[in-house]
Amino acid sequence: MDATHYYNPNGEDILDEKLYGGSPTGFVDFNRSRYRWDSNIYDLMNANTWFPSEVNTASEKKNFEHLTDNEQAIYKMTFAQLSFNDSAQEEYLSDFRRLANNRLVKAVLSLQIMQEVNHSKSYAVLLDACGNSEEVFNLYKHDAALNKKNQQVAEQFARYIDGGSADKMLLSAMASVNLEGIYFLLGFSYIYLLGDKVPGARDMIKFIARDELNTHLPLFANIFKTIQKENKIAASTIDAAYEMISDAVEIELEYGKYLLNRYPIMGVTPELMEQTVYNYANDRLKKIGLEPAFEETPTTYLQKLVTKHLEMNEVKSNFFESNVSNYAKSSIDLNDF
Ligand SMILES: [Fe+2]
Ligand SMILES: [Fe+2]
Repeated sequence: MDATHYYNPNGEDILDEKLYGGSPTGFVDFNRSRYRWDSNIYDLMNANTWFPSEVNTASEKKNFEHLTDNEQAIYKMTFAQLSFNDSAQEEYLSDFRRLANNRLVKAVLSLQIMQEVNHSKSYAVLLDACGNSEEVFNLYKHDAALNKKNQQVAEQFARYIDGGSADKMLLSAMASVNLEGIYFLLGFSYIYLLGDKVPGARDMIKFIARDELNTHLPLFANIFKTIQKENKIAASTIDAAYEMISDAVEIELEYGKYLLNRYPIMGVTPELMEQTVYNYANDRLKKIGLEPAFEETPTTYLQKLVTKHLEMNEVKSNFFESNVSNYAKSSIDLNDF
């Protein structure tokens, strides 16, 4: 590696560091941000820092044993898939970070990487308390549908990660919009449907969902919009981004319907799933500045469940009275453009 990668006194001014392409001097200066959203998201991520040990998992095994067979299967298959998502995301982010030029955005990605590792740790803590960690982490070996979804997520990550152009970096960012904004969502709602029966799992998912939806998704939405704004992106690249989210919708629904078909629970229907995932996909498209492309229905019950659990003060104050961090989303501008 050339030393100018770390320190280049003749490099560009920090305010000129674009997301793709350039030659930064090498300073991470939070006082001079080319984009406001980067340091705002960093601050929000930090304000919401949590650790798996904060969630009470003491009764998880007992609670799990009280679930019906179908509920137990849903629990295990959900965590088997979610835990893969976070493992893959950590590795993908480390690779995506190399495509980025702006040092402050790279610093925010570093914090995100730490949070994804924290999510992996939280699954291990929860499943260890539940007594089925090894079984759940090995389910991909026995379940073809789970293996297929993992494989498809991995393929989306791999497709453009080698970079080489702003267009490829944009599509690589799209893979992360899909991961943060689509691939977790049915899994989150399943655990919320089990809800009070497994409060350990529910609260762990509340913390994880807050990270994914309140900071990681906005981070990648801003990255996507910024790359698009700073570069001449081909129309065919935007078409490819639409294709990627269509694929993500299909991937999410295929696994969701497979689970529903095998382990029907609590009034969830294939139609409800479709409406939910379509609505999410439209929302993600709007967040990245593109037009909604799926059939839109009023906010579904599953969406409402997810949204309701994003309010974190309630969780923190229930469990950790001395450690209430103010959730300040509404007062922070996460969106410059
Ligand atoms: Fe995560
Ligand atoms: Fe994430």
